Amino acid sequence: MNLTVIGTGYVGLVTGTCFAEMGNNVTCVDIDQKKIYNLNKGTIPIYEPGLEKLIQENKKAGRLSFSISLKEAMEKSKLFLIAVGTPESPNGEANMEYIYAVASEIGEHLIQESVIVNKSTVPVGTSERVKLTIDEGLKKRGIKVKFHVVSNPEFLKEGDAIRDFMRPDRVILGTDSKYALDMLKQLYSPFTMNHDRLITMGVKEAELTKYAANAMLATKISFINEIAHICDELGIDVESVRKGIGADSRIGYSFIYPGTGYGGSCFPKDVKAIIHTAKKAGVEPLVLDAVEKRNQRQKQRMFDHIISKYGSDLNGLIFAVWGLAFKPETDDMREAPSVNLITSLIESGGKVQAFDPVANEEAVKKFPQEWVSKNKLTFFDDNYTALENGDALVLMTEWKMFRNPSLSKMKELMKNLCIFDGRNQYDPDYMRNNGFYYKGIGR
Ligand SMILES: NC(=O)c1ccc[n+]([C@@H]2O[C@H](COP(=O)([O-])OP(=O)(O)OC[C@H]3O[C@@H](n4cnc5c(N)ncnc54)[C@H](O)[C@@H]3O)[C@@H](O)[C@H]2O)c1
Repeated sequence: MNLTVIGTGYVGLVTGTCFAEMGNNVTCVDIDQKKIYNLNKGTIPIYEPGLEKLIQENKKAGRLSFSISLKEAMEKSKLFLIAVGTPESPNGEANMEYIYAVASEIGEHLIQESVIVNKSTVPVGTSERVKLTIDEGLKKRGIKVKFHVVSNPEFLKEGDAIRDFMRPDRVILGTDSKYALDMLKQLYSPFTMNHDRLITMGVKEAELTKYAANAMLATKISFINEIAHICDELGIDVESVRKGIGADSRIGYSFIYPGTGYGGSCFPKDVKAIIHTAKKAGVEPLVLDAVEKRNQRQKQRMFDHIISKYGSDLNGLIFAVWGLAFKPETDDMREAPSVNLITSLIESGGKVQAFDPVANEEAVKKFPQEWVSKNKLTFFDDNYTALENGDALVLMTEWKMFRNPSLSKMKELMKNLCIFDGRNQYDPDYMRNNGFYYKGIGR
């Protein structure tokens, strides 16, 4: 098939590349000229394991190309997948300007019967408005062209995106069009050969399914974070409690790891957006409000532990921070809890020596330039160098390379042997027996 992916970010780039890998001809379009220029030169804009190699191979095979012109891409294709951003508006609602800008552009250039698939996470009713917007464009041009709008939300997770896309748990197709369904069943058949993973439903149900899935996962995280807080106050170890509840197959082990709060480009904005949807529908979102509130609180927990040890004036203290991205295997810094922590540390007078294996470059953009120029915040290329003269290490992202650090090196480099473990990666007894002060989340 010839298909066009509109929006070449984390979702669009992975989607386009994986469809090309299955033999389709894919054009990835973006309005960001620099991004497209770089991709054409071979520079990949994001860190995602395995992606660069797949892009190079498919470009070389002539199946994957990058363009800034949607109009040109539309001349060769009848299938369009929208994967532009739907960030948070100031009132918590999803900002839909990019989606409707794409819909207008499609209306301006549509020339043949086509299927328009929305992969972005969008509120209920968006597909209907996309349809109306395209219709308006066609009316202005005084022509009639048949088209079908489908909701096909994406469930990949950054850091494991290729595997998630290639072997999805399910593919949700929200449409009442047989034409669109036949085309998409064909498109997705290489990904569902092992067993049928397609779930078809109404457009609005598909739109809400994506928000409900993310809200459920966020709920699990906020729940265990609250249990961890209770454990802190009672002086007991949440890790035993986690194992004890995870063993129940109705609960399971996934997404019940206590930490520094969920971040990233999806959970925070999607929980706020579904809260907004609920309120607009006249429903008081009791559970969802609590999930969001707990997460805000959780992002401050590590800092609370730090000031309860050092007091609120951190002048003269140096904090090494290991891990900046909102989770391992990505350079995505959107809503990363490390930003809250580092900001609080520096605003309280502390100095920060930060290290992330891939996200330093993205992270520096999140802080005032002045902090870097005045050496309040320094980024390091190596995790041990970041420890030099440190009064404490704060672990914020559970990259594998941090799991078993050399304690002798740490002892040599650090001024004070002190660990704040935001991801419960270390055994408290082992650390304490080695002379470290240790504080984890709920332990
Ligand atoms: N990132 C994830 O892990 C993930 C997972 C599942 C779903 N989603 C959803 O997918 C959508 C995209 O997320 P993302 O993280 O890939 O976003 P992103 O910000 O990484 O990428 C969006 C891209 O769209 C481009 N764009 C904006 N307007 C455009 C236009 N008119 N024409 C062409 N390109 C345009 C931007 O320049 C940008 O490159 C969001 O709705 C998000 O909620 C994201």
